[in-house]
Amino acid sequence: MGGSRGVAGRVAASAAAPKMVPMPAGDSFFIATPIFYVNDVPHIGHAYTEVAADVLARWHRQRGDDTWLLTGTDEHGQKILRTATSHDVTPQAWADKLVTESWKPLLETVDISNDDFIRTTDERHEKGVQRFLQKLHDDGYIYQGEFEGYYCVGCEEYKQPGDLVDGTGAFEGEQVCAIHSKPVELLKESNYFFRMSDFEQRLLDLYESQPDFVQPENVRNEIVQFVKQGLRDLSISRQTFDWGVKVPWDEKHVVYVWFDALLNYVTAIGYGVDDEQFDRRWPAVQLVGKDIARFHAVIWPAMLMAAGLPVPKAVFGHGWLLVGGEKMSKSKLTGIAPQQITDVFGADAFRYYFMRAITFGQDGNFSWEDISARYQAELANGFGNLASRVIAMITRYFDGTVPVAGELTPADLAVRETELRVTAAADGAMDRFAINEALSSIWELVDVLNGYITEQEPWALAKHDDQRERLATVLATALRGLGTLTVLLSPFMPTATRTLWEAIGQGELTSQPVDRAAEWSSAPTVQPLAAGLFPRIEQPEPAA
Ligand code: MSP
Repeated sequence: MGGSRGVAGRVAASAAAPKMVPMPAGDSFFIATPIFYVNDVPHIGHAYTEVAADVLARWHRQRGDDTWLLTGTDEHGQKILRTATSHDVTPQAWADKLVTESWKPLLETVDISNDDFIRTTDERHEKGVQRFLQKLHDDGYIYQGEFEGYYCVGCEEYKQPGDLVDGTGAFEGEQVCAIHSKPVELLKESNYFFRMSDFEQRLLDLYESQPDFVQPENVRNEIVQFVKQGLRDLSISRQTFDWGVKVPWDEKHVVYVWFDALLNYVTAIGYGVDDEQFDRRWPAVQLVGKDIARFHAVIWPAMLMAAGLPVPKAVFGHGWLLVGGEKMSKSKLTGIAPQQITDVFGADAFRYYFMRAITFGQDGNFSWEDISARYQAELANGFGNLASRVIAMITRYFDGTVPVAGELTPADLAVRETELRVTAAADGAMDRFAINEALSSIWELVDVLNGYITEQEPWALAKHDDQRERLATVLATALRGLGTLTVLLSPFMPTATRTLWEAIGQGELTSQPVDRAAEWSSAPTVQPLAAGLFPRIEQPEPAA
């Protein structure tokens, strides 16, 4: 990431210009989320990954990078097959229902601006998986062998004895998966294998030569240690069930669900069928939960190396959302549906809260008390009140006409300096995936502006005719800062910032380059806000 980023092409569109979509002049930024299992409905852990990827995508898009955000669903494998069977429907019908009723609506609920949505049951994907696998087979990276070992259907993963723990309760006396606390299954099949062990040294070289390939540091260290212990070849087909992509040269087998799923990142951008799109987008930045970093930072680059394709730009393993100190999950009954929160606070506050309150890369606890407190203090009183006050004073003292600043004092210049400094700091933080740091930098501007208004007391200046120019300067400076804030916050809170922009800005908010936020232009007059940006919440926690 980084490098030169021209933005002129996106900003200079005029009504008279010939109709042509300018190619963004910036860097290519392709970001993908994991694709989610359709065995169950989404909870706030899934929404967290979506929001983080969306905020990064919107930021890059708004600084002129050639951005593409991909998300989707993982629909094959034994876990989905069993869930569907237990509901007496076919796995395809089950997946269709969950995608339509739950997974696509999630994107609306938390305001995701994805450019594509891939399902592993899409024909484009299934054909792409077969194409990829056939190539690896032709090039000698696949062989047939006997597999014997333990499998956890919850993880859809083969387990080593060290991954298992003693069961308790109903599973007393059995070995169970440490993650799912359920017994593993003994598999004994003739399968196809991928020669993953061939890539051990190349992977270690990759981690060494590209230290930011796996992030953050703790996830990277875990991955390096794991590979150093030695890699085995990977069983990549199953023949005891048929809910999957058929192995092209032996249709009795279906492709192992992770091998199938990981390929979504390339089948979605035209692997093998649309070279132009593929070359324009690949390689991706991959955002995943740390639980699945190993699949993305070991198996996936090995697959790509075997196919002669570049590895991802980076794999970032974020932390877990905890509820009451436990990793949130439906099966442990700690699952919270995103809509429970957005119904109370709205999508903007949901996005703001999770990006602000949790250090991106670390685990973080969710609580209703915490989100309510931040909503009230930071959004309603901090940002929302600032916006209402500035607009109301320009309306009252200047009839809504944006005042022109006179001579600037050190206090006014300090506001300008803060705008420029936090813009650079936020942009740098976003390049490091430090999303919460970007927000705390931006919040310095909220605090500085509120402090500035308190100190300058425009309401007192308004009482004296001879202070008219000073009043104009103070309100012009405050409005300038408010507009800069609106631009910087638009990737985080697209709805509230759009409303605010309609009251003060000119042109499209999303065409204002975030890395030059302070250069925004105001409309000649401001429009009063119909209501506060963040209304008062009467009862924060929904009734149980
Ligand atoms: N289908 C696989 C991924 C295949 S990608 C080629 C899968 N799906 S999943 O539905 O289980 O979703 C996993 C992702 O959801 C995690 O990697 C993480 O991004 C997100 N989260 C699920 N629970 C979470 C928390 N409690 N906290 C944070 N993120 C969580 O694994």
